[in-house]
Amino acid sequence: MTQALDAAALTNNQKLINWVDEVAALTTPDKVRWCDGSPAEYQAMLDLMTASGTAIKLNDAKRPNSILVRSDPADVARVEDRTFICCEDQADAGPTNNWKAPQEMKDILMPLFKSCMKGRTLYVIPFSMGPIGSPIAHIGVELTDSPYVVANMHIMTRVGKAVLDVLGDDGFFVPCVHSVGMPLTDGAEDVPWPCNADNKYITHFPETKEIWSFGSGYGGNALLGKKCFALRIASVMAREQGWMAEHMLILKLTSPRGVSKYVAAAFPSACGKTNLAMMTPTLPGWKVQTVGDDIAWMKFARDENGRQRLFAINPEAGFFGVAPGTNELSNPNALASASRNSIFTNCGLTDDGDIWWEEMTHEPPAHLIDWHGKDWTAHADRKAAHPNARFTAPAKQCPVIADNWEDPAGVPIDAILFGGRRASVVPLVNEAFSWPHATFLGSIMSSEKTAAAAGKVGQLRRDPMAMLPFCGYHMADYWSHWLDMGRTGGEGMPKVFYVNWFRKSPEGKLLWPGFGENSRVLKWVFERCAGEADADPTPIGMLPTPDALDLDGLGLDDACIAQLLEVDTQGWLDEIPLIREHYAQFGDKLPQALVAELDALEERLKAGA
Ligand code: OXD
Ligand code: MN
Repeated sequence: MTQALDAAALTNNQKLINWVDEVAALTTPDKVRWCDGSPAEYQAMLDLMTASGTAIKLNDAKRPNSILVRSDPADVARVEDRTFICCEDQADAGPTNNWKAPQEMKDILMPLFKSCMKGRTLYVIPFSMGPIGSPIAHIGVELTDSPYVVANMHIMTRVGKAVLDVLGDDGFFVPCVHSVGMPLTDGAEDVPWPCNADNKYITHFPETKEIWSFGSGYGGNALLGKKCFALRIASVMAREQGWMAEHMLILKLTSPRGVSKYVAAAFPSACGKTNLAMMTPTLPGWKVQTVGDDIAWMKFARDENGRQRLFAINPEAGFFGVAPGTNELSNPNALASASRNSIFTNCGLTDDGDIWWEEMTHEPPAHLIDWHGKDWTAHADRKAAHPNARFTAPAKQCPVIADNWEDPAGVPIDAILFGGRRASVVPLVNEAFSWPHATFLGSIMSSEKTAAAAGKVGQLRRDPMAMLPFCGYHMADYWSHWLDMGRTGGEGMPKVFYVNWFRKSPEGKLLWPGFGENSRVLKWVFERCAGEADADPTPIGMLPTPDALDLDGLGLDDACIAQLLEVDTQGWLDEIPLIREHYAQFGDKLPQALVAELDALEERLKAGA
């Protein structure tokens, strides 16, 4: 940074100033710098990182204004087993979260944070999750000793003085403290990727709305606006205040007649969320534009007809996307988003100063430097990029970003999609009968483990609403909140659908082509919302009638279509005891409305069998 900014020049918020002073007294950095969010500050962070050996500047002709960073090989992903919800009563964290009592966790953390920023600079990052000043947005302040975090927060959030202006003298902010956990004591030499090998703690205090993160510099562990604030803490705020913080992409779907509808979608990881958010429809005249690729905050407001609806914003300003597998076919718009002004982490470095990752191009480069900084050739038996290598790219660079993606009022959500990877049982698309039924479908969301994951291949992992690692409180209380939202929203709530792009034939062949062809399902969703498409009631939900789904030109035979839309009565009956087992872990807090939905499903299946 070119100059130290004085807190007094930026804010009169005494609570904020006092808190920064307290954390500085605890962590004893050499300097404290208030971030103004300016391009000069961003540039200064890149310069600092390239000078210190943390970052390599990429070839400006190939990848303008971009850097590559290689992390410590032991600090490459979110650490769910080191992630804690620290509320007074363990029953409030629930069976799916790691829990510690707040004081017990503070007793562990305070000695770790004591003088942990020695020899470093403490950066104060005031940031807005969502368009600055939007009634759906909220403010956080991250204190960090990592210039990598400062640069990433510039892309992923809105940073700077304008945020402090909205905060005012006594506005609410979520305090987020982050340290890489490697003090430079007695003039110790820094390393390119400082982190703490022995202690990593990603901790959330839902009652006091605080976040403390120690020991990791990577992604969701360190960019505290994302999973820690926008999902774990925000889910708690949302429950208290009557709104929703969800792990959902948001897309704008426009018909050939120029009518737009907004769809939010929750899928577990590795199910193509970013690809759907930026997809190129194969159906002529249909358009998909991106509002967000990962998180949706939704609050009630009146639409132009005076109807109460859920309006959503994308609280983020950038994409923190998984790089491997992204290519001109799978997601050209993500590639274009990261064509400049981007940060690449744990990708390969080509001989001409650009980046590469697995499947980026059909032919791998003959030679590059891999994510460990070692020579790599196309014949190497190891990966050039880490499987969780990432690009951090400004959302505004996405070629299909929606013109109104930053509308402070948000966009009215017409439909919500749930989904997962299921080879059998679950049809291509299925509409919920009602909001309680929709909540039931979200609560039993599941995906099959692939060969890459630990555990038996094909084994089901339940990931309710794709929130399993991100819900900041008891999952069953979260379902009760969903049910409450439905009662408040009534007829204005979005229609809810469950999709499965991954159904296979008995021979193990994928039945559905996916990618841009998913626009055919989106079209049916659109038409259902408009009251224009037919559906048949079945025991599991409303399915498209044979003619309602536009399959023109797809070349699928009747047998394939029948399998895609089959209601597998026996498969579902076999799943009922598994769902009961899943529900059993939530004890007394499990909403009776969901048990009633499960019983009703069983009855309908038996009646139809
Ligand atoms: C992400 C995730 O990185 O869900 O978005 O893990
Ligand atoms: Mn995510």
